[in-house]
Amino acid sequence: MLILGIESSCDETGVALVDASGSAVPRLLGHALHSQIEMHQAYGGVVPELASRDHIRRVLPLTEATLQQSGLDLAAVDLVAYTRGPGLAGALLVGAGVACAIAAALDKPTLGVHHLEGHLLSPFLSADPPEFPFIALLVSGGHTQLMRVDGVGRYELLGETIDDAAGEAFDKSAKLLGLGYPGGPALSRLARQGDPEAFKLPRPLLHSGDLDFSFAGLKTAVLTQARKLGTELPARQADLAASTQAAIVEVLVKKSVAALKQSGLKRLVVAGGVGANASLREQLDAACAKRGWRVHYPELHLCTDNGAMIALAAGMRVQAGLADRAAADYAFDVRP
Ligand code: KG4
Ligand code: ZN
Repeated sequence: MLILGIESSCDETGVALVDASGSAVPRLLGHALHSQIEMHQAYGGVVPELASRDHIRRVLPLTEATLQQSGLDLAAVDLVAYTRGPGLAGALLVGAGVACAIAAALDKPTLGVHHLEGHLLSPFLSADPPEFPFIALLVSGGHTQLMRVDGVGRYELLGETIDDAAGEAFDKSAKLLGLGYPGGPALSRLARQGDPEAFKLPRPLLHSGDLDFSFAGLKTAVLTQARKLGTELPARQADLAASTQAAIVEVLVKKSVAALKQSGLKRLVVAGGVGANASLREQLDAACAKRGWRVHYPELHLCTDNGAMIALAAGMRVQAGLADRAAADYAFDVRP
């Protein structure tokens, strides 16, 4: 069962091929990725129309590169998966359109995949994959969720952000500090040279007793602090970056620990772009090691958007008998 997966929800075009034969975790045979970050940098954020057009330019060469890597011919593909949403409508349409066109030409079915399910399952592609059940901390640019995961397609939402996502908090704070786009990696790089306790920033909902998050207030606090510093800001920029990161990471770690305690589960899976953050990884590792819990991450290069996670999620759905939505009518179907 060879599955081609296409990701185009935002500013990364990703294509991958997995082998989902049998019941073993689908095996990655090849994958190719192009990030549009440089193109959007000049605008300080993703420009949707430019994103769509660049996906069009990249998707076929990336598909060819993926096939070349795996040494297989397109005709060998049994199912074409694509990111159905959430994401930018125009960007999603490119991936969906290409997937449907390839599938139609091959007379094979298509399967629309939920982008977050891709992130959620991406640690299964690592050398030390997790086992079900586990608690998942999903931290991306658009989402911050804690979930109980009992199997493929068996997800229970335990808590989520009531306003900004964790990645958004990184990106918006970075913008306020004059760091480029995307802000998360830039802010975390600068934070290495700063003192995380230099500024007292709020930890919203830390003691709320539930598993929800709120990051909108943090951004305002960073802005207030930056204004207060005025001309001193450049000299204190690293301290403010470190303090901002510490506030975000502390809330993510404490709520993850609370979710594990409440559920009685001993395994945490971290996924999404913010999962690449070194400080988050360090502190989650420490908090879980202390209690004898395991933490699983996707490989670093699979933390942010990629085609491998979409092909993988499709493969795991097929194996779990959940691919009944696989369509053969090639109608475009995106859920922005
Ligand atoms: O999962 P992802 O690639 O795209 C979405 O589905 O949103 O996540 C992108 C987010 C951005 O907000 C980016 O700033 C953040 O992940 N990010 C990081 C790091 N690397 C990426 N945030 C903090 N530290 C990082 N090292
Ligand atoms: Zn994503």
